[in-house]
Amino acid sequence: MRLSSLHLDRFRNIRRADLAFGEAPLHIFVGENGQGKTNLLSAIYWLATLTPLQTHKGRELVMWGEQEARVRGEVLSGELRRSLAVSYEVGQGGQGAARGAAREGKRVPPSQYFGALTVVAFTPRDLDLVRGGPDDRRRFLDRAVFNERPAHLHAVQSFGAALEGRNRLLRDGAPDALVAAYEGTLAELGARLMGARARYAQALAPLFSSTLRDICGVSGAVAYRPALETPDLLAAPEGEVQEALARRWAESRAADRLRGFTQRGPQLDDLSLRLSDHSAKSYASQGQQRAIALALKIAQIELLSARAGERPVLLLDDVSSELDARRAGLLFSFLDRFGGQVFLTTTHERHIPRHEEATLWRLEGGAVLGS
Ligand SMILES: Nc1ncnc2c1ncn2[C@@H]1O[C@H](COP(=O)(O)OP(=O)(O)O)[C@@H](O)[C@H]1O
Ligand SMILES: [Mg+2]
Repeated sequence: MRLSSLHLDRFRNIRRADLAFGEAPLHIFVGENGQGKTNLLSAIYWLATLTPLQTHKGRELVMWGEQEARVRGEVLSGELRRSLAVSYEVGQGGQGAARGAAREGKRVPPSQYFGALTVVAFTPRDLDLVRGGPDDRRRFLDRAVFNERPAHLHAVQSFGAALEGRNRLLRDGAPDALVAAYEGTLAELGARLMGARARYAQALAPLFSSTLRDICGVSGAVAYRPALETPDLLAAPEGEVQEALARRWAESRAADRLRGFTQRGPQLDDLSLRLSDHSAKSYASQGQQRAIALALKIAQIELLSARAGERPVLLLDDVSSELDARRAGLLFSFLDRFGGQVFLTTTHERHIPRHEEATLWRLEGGAVLGS
């Protein structure tokens, strides 16, 4: 799939931009720091995922002093042409902000929005996959599953809502029967969530190991690390996993009541990353940690491309500055082979191999100066 056009309206520091992307796969956003390169990538990311790329709130998508931000784009996928549009309106006095998403000009709920444009972003924060806490890795895992099965988002959100429900009951001192009923729902949603995570991690594992061997010549492994023990998630029937989860939560109910929240469950799941059979977080060098983060992303893209039968759109923010020459070389050789559409940012095109074949877009003070 490829994005064929992109229109921004009062999006962060970009008042207005209308870009048409031809068939050449590589697009480079070039400019000094602070000009709007990352913002342009975030617009694409927002259009694809309905979530901001950086960790800012929805209202920060809107240009300062303005009330609304809009991004539109057209996506080509085989013979199909789809149009996507997102908007964010700041409410009066900061209250009642309104988000909107539309496909083919019709407003749709998120569940019907996803699937037209799939992106994978590389950012300097990817290093948190190795150095950060379980939540960074869990988010990566869930987003990767979601890219292949948009319904996974709903599973994650429903589980979160049910978890919040049980926690509220525990804090309110609700009777056991009521809490037990919630545990049943939680177990059903949890088993589905964990099953999807386990199956994804299992498919990712061999691709990760081979990519890592290519990139830094060492052996490494990734595996799903659920916070709760269950029967084999890949082999046991889902009903058995459900029963095991419900039992666990029933057993810990008294202790959870004392703490006022659910202390264990898939809300704490992790991915384990190993390098030469040691924990990557404590054992790998800086360079190796970068290679591991890169290998995870590349493995994700390989899997996604193979399963969807088409390539996602890649967004790379400032990555060449994050990698040493050798690993940057490996990344670009991957991009060369990749063949799909790639958007990347840099302060100077000379940092990017084969930039002569790319389309350059210069950014200055939020204005896109054309290709
Ligand atoms: N909501 C906003 N409205 C206007 N300007 C913004 C907003 N959010 C960020 N900016 C500005 O955008 C610029 C950063 O753009 P960015 O895309 O991160 O630059 P870079 O080219 O370095 O990637 C900064 O100058 C910042 O002040
Ligand atoms: Mg930037």
